[in-house]
Amino acid sequence: MERISRNGRACWVLVGGRRRLGRALAEDLARDHDLVLTSSKPWDGETWVDDLTKTGRIRTLQWDAEGPELVSRMMADLDGLESDGWAISGAVLLAGTFPKSPLGTWTPELLDATWRMNLGFPFLCAQALAPRLADGSCLQLLLDTSIHRPWLKRLPYSAAKAGLAALVPGLAQLLAPRVRVVGHALGAVLPAEGSDAAFLAERTLLKRLGDPADLCRAVRFAADSPFLTGEILTQDGGRRWVDR
Ligand SMILES: NC(=O)c1ccc[n+]([C@@H]2O[C@H](COP(=O)([O-])OP(=O)(O)OC[C@H]3O[C@@H](n4cnc5c(N)ncnc54)[C@H](OP(=O)(O)O)[C@@H]3O)[C@@H](O)[C@H]2O)c1
Repeated sequence: MERISRNGRACWVLVGGRRRLGRALAEDLARDHDLVLTSSKPWDGETWVDDLTKTGRIRTLQWDAEGPELVSRMMADLDGLESDGWAISGAVLLAGTFPKSPLGTWTPELLDATWRMNLGFPFLCAQALAPRLADGSCLQLLLDTSIHRPWLKRLPYSAAKAGLAALVPGLAQLLAPRVRVVGHALGAVLPAEGSDAAFLAERTLLKRLGDPADLCRAVRFAADSPFLTGEILTQDGGRRWVDR
């Protein structure tokens, strides 16, 4: 399989490429990549995706972390892409949830759901994608600055991201030298509904929230840096150095 698939455009998979940061990254990458975008839901009515097809190939898939046939579905979809001539040379795993779950609210069900979505799902996606990635590919995972300073009202989420922080160097060792693995520990970029954006910005050294463009730039940097693997790039405006 060649790294560059067609007309000089690399083919990348964005897991969770439909909303928020995933969509922003899809719109940025579509300028010079063919893309496979996944969502937990059917893609009907997403007209912005039609616009992307004016510049390159876009394939949409339905991968639901809660779906009973998830693993077989992922395998079948990836087989289908391969037989249709898609040579995948990059993947970014963005899918996640951000549940508020303070101490005292934890139940086995809540913990299972949080870890299935934010830890088990990326593990399964990485396992499905790894053998299909072309030599020289970069697999990238979205983490959170909570790996440095956990969100106290979201400890189960923070623990899931800490698990991904172990996956990044571990997978980098397992997949080297063929495939590189890089994580992105992001601070607040698109705050959850109901959160105080001004407060979150004030708690950074740079006194601002992140911008989706900050992530896009770092994802492109990681893909274009052939000596980089097993690393987690933190972009949090210096949040972790602010002592409150
Ligand atoms: N936003 C931020 O400021 C921020 C800060 C730090 C870290 N991050 C990390 O960056 C990543 C993207 O964040 P975000 O805020 O843009 O996204 P998000 O709203 O947390 O969700 C990401 C994606 O997860 C998908 N998803 C939800 N349930 C799913 C399921 N059952 N199966 C499969 N996919 C499912 C959603 O897509 P569908 O509904 O289409 O399935 C959504 O596009 C996440 O990993 C997040 O933890 C974000």
